[in-house]
Amino acid sequence: MCGIVGYVGPKQAQGVVIEGLRRLEYRGYDSAGVALVHDGAIASDKKAGKLANLDKAIADAPLPESTTGIGHTRWATHGAPNDRNAHPHLGQQGRVALVHNGIIENFAALRSELEAAGHDLLSETDTEVAAHLLESALSGGANLTEAMQAVCRRLEGAFTLVAVDGQDPDRVVAARRNSPLVVGLGEGENFLASDVAAFIEHTRDALELGQDQVVTITRDDVEVTDFDGAPAEAKAFHVDWDLSAAEKDGYDWFMRKEIHEQPRAVADSLLGRRNEEGFLQLDEMRLSDQDLREIDKIILIACGTAFYSGLVAKYAIEHWTRIPCEVELAHEFRYRDPILTRDTLVVAISQSGETADTLMAIRHARQQRSKVLAICNTNGSTIPRESDAVIYTHAGPEIGVASTKGFLTQIVACYLLGLYLAQVRGTKFGDEIASIMAQLDRMPKLVQKVLDGADQVHELARELSDATSVLFLGRHVGYPIALEGALKLKELAYIHAEGFAAGELKHGPIALVEEGMPVICIVPPRGRDMLHGKMISGIQEVRARGARTIVLAEEGDDEVTPYADVLVRLPQVPTLLQPMLSVVPLQLFACELATSKGHDVDQPRNLAKSVTVE
Ligand code: M6R
Repeated sequence: MCGIVGYVGPKQAQGVVIEGLRRLEYRGYDSAGVALVHDGAIASDKKAGKLANLDKAIADAPLPESTTGIGHTRWATHGAPNDRNAHPHLGQQGRVALVHNGIIENFAALRSELEAAGHDLLSETDTEVAAHLLESALSGGANLTEAMQAVCRRLEGAFTLVAVDGQDPDRVVAARRNSPLVVGLGEGENFLASDVAAFIEHTRDALELGQDQVVTITRDDVEVTDFDGAPAEAKAFHVDWDLSAAEKDGYDWFMRKEIHEQPRAVADSLLGRRNEEGFLQLDEMRLSDQDLREIDKIILIACGTAFYSGLVAKYAIEHWTRIPCEVELAHEFRYRDPILTRDTLVVAISQSGETADTLMAIRHARQQRSKVLAICNTNGSTIPRESDAVIYTHAGPEIGVASTKGFLTQIVACYLLGLYLAQVRGTKFGDEIASIMAQLDRMPKLVQKVLDGADQVHELARELSDATSVLFLGRHVGYPIALEGALKLKELAYIHAEGFAAGELKHGPIALVEEGMPVICIVPPRGRDMLHGKMISGIQEVRARGARTIVLAEEGDDEVTPYADVLVRLPQVPTLLQPMLSVVPLQLFACELATSKGHDVDQPRNLAKSVTVE
């Protein structure tokens, strides 16, 4: 989603703002712009396309020097991604420049009102109305902070707004509702951004703005109020990762780097979860043992890859706790009137912690008095802040739009939750939990072993780069991995890919199979005898119809050999842990195939890293 940066301090704002935007590129965008305060006026430029287009435009027509500025990378919602709709937007007289992330739902009414009052709106965006309203409030005598408060009171929907006033050279003002905004606290300089990556090279001290707050930054001061102007408090935090975590470290893509970081990410997510007696302890579990004993239903809600981690987790949580467990897409859950009680535990899984669909779903669950627990990778983001409890994954920043280490660590966190519930409710003995934890402790090494075999998968990906359709088959916990493998291929390589439960094939999808079509099959460990045999039958069925079978199976599984055109070996692990290994070749496959097609792997077309609109 849109990236936002604001700066006031001694440095040249243009450089700080554009570098900040570069660090937010991963969020996905289709145009970019910057506005600077200079000599009592606004100087700005904006261009459709990548930041390179803006760089070129500024090189051709340089902007003046300035130490106060704002910038924006836009992911189009209202209006096409062209120069005109790019941000910043200016007020009627060009005195104010404004950038925005989110959707202003009542913009049509506001636009009509402005047009009736003689305003000329130049773009098709919802944002421009806010710029005009802001400038009108300034003309009425308010300062920029007061004007922002007044405008926010009139807006409906989700927004982060950041603005500068050409006649107020040392002040940047921002506001947020249902959309992320953080303040970076420097020495004699301050920053605003949609996330800390934008200013991490300058400061790791930050403030997280609360809901419906306005913040004013000057070089030496930060002031927070609510929309009515009453003083408010924002929460201070320290970013515990540094610039190197937000850089590629010699990899061609962030995604590839993040795939290779998975052994460490899994290890970090398991770290510190046991007390001296070996019992599980989850620091941010703010629900009491009594609360947890009363739970009679669990609903896991999420979107995209996070949803698939929930699908994997359902098998483990039900098995370990015997609590009925449903998994649902957050946007479907929110609008279907689900049956929720005080004894329902709603688990929201989100890497970013800002996904609007998931956020709206947990708000609904809390209104119904259900308990909400967040599984999240982003410290201080909105979803954990609005939940009763949280289990943070410790994957480190995930920059690639395609989620990889986020997914693996979500499975770890869900498993920790399942085992913790089993411990509290006594559905597993302590030694059984300890034994599963010991198996989990081996996973970083085993994930590394799968990564060591990357060459085989890369070669296969390059060979299949002309494929127009790829199917993925799995059963049990292999089924969500088939879905995830297909999603990765769709979003990165833009080729048709579908994941199926292998047992469903014969009920229709097998009609898709034709001569030479690659079908990727995830074979469960032999420990699950019945599943294993049935999966092999499924492979035979597609092979008999001409499919080229690429089979992922555990080491020592010789039964599959006759049915595999390509065999990718996985270390032996218990069934429930296999997803953490089988997904890795699928991530490598999608990344390499997209690379060989010349696609931008970190910023696939039409996608945003965190989707902050419903
Ligand atoms: O930040 P979240 O985990 O809430 O994001 C959910 C999905 O938008 C995300 O997983 C998306 O599907 C990714 N592009 C998948 O790679």
